[in-house]
Amino acid sequence: MGIIYAQDNLSLGQMAARWVAREVLICPNLVLGLPTGSTPIGMYHYLTRLTQEGILSFTQARTFNLDEYVGLTTDHPQSYAFFMREHFWSKVDLPKGNADIPRGDVSNLAAECRRYDEAIQGAGGIGVQILGLGLNGHIGFNEPSYNMEICTHVVDLTAETIQANTRFFSDSDAVPRQAITMGVGSIMQARKILLLISGESKRDILTKALYGPVSTEVPSSILQLHADLTVLTDIKLNT
Ligand code: F6R
Repeated sequence: MGIIYAQDNLSLGQMAARWVAREVLICPNLVLGLPTGSTPIGMYHYLTRLTQEGILSFTQARTFNLDEYVGLTTDHPQSYAFFMREHFWSKVDLPKGNADIPRGDVSNLAAECRRYDEAIQGAGGIGVQILGLGLNGHIGFNEPSYNMEICTHVVDLTAETIQANTRFFSDSDAVPRQAITMGVGSIMQARKILLLISGESKRDILTKALYGPVSTEVPSSILQLHADLTVLTDIKLNT
């Protein structure tokens, strides 16, 4: 595991974008696993800038998002599909057919989970996976539980996650109670992982994730077992 420290949230976004850009420049047909949320917004901003300046191109890349809320259509402003269009897909030269995200608005969610896993496998698996970290230790929407799911699955969101994500909705009742998420199998099979964490509120959970026991209660702790994990954070750890 390597830890890279950023001065603040702004430089974290720039450094994450440069890290990803290097991977895409080395391997233009890279398969990228992508997160949504507050943390990667700066990264998407700088990746957009690099693309618009002609330094970077996503024309041969493929992307798979980690998760989506169940019940939201792709044009719902709080859907992750909407987020991706707003922050990335519409801004860079990634061909439309090369970006995939689980659909949370289909009637047969089990079939959608199978489709998603087959699409990831069909692309050769995830090459580089970018992750954020939930306050409760989740990665994607793999929530603390008694077990870890390997494949894409539907998950009941924990009260903590609903509370944390209420900031994006009118009130907590409007937050979907379920999501569809990539499992830890697809995440751990990625060749490289970049974990982004910003803000003092995540100090405790980051410490547990990186140095605590590997446990299903802290799903991100499984990342300790990955062979090529880079952590990029603006939290100075006292280790
Ligand atoms: C979202 C995702 C989540 C977030 C996590 C942190 O696609 O995978 O695991 O990365 O909830 O979210 P922020 O960055 O908003 O704190």
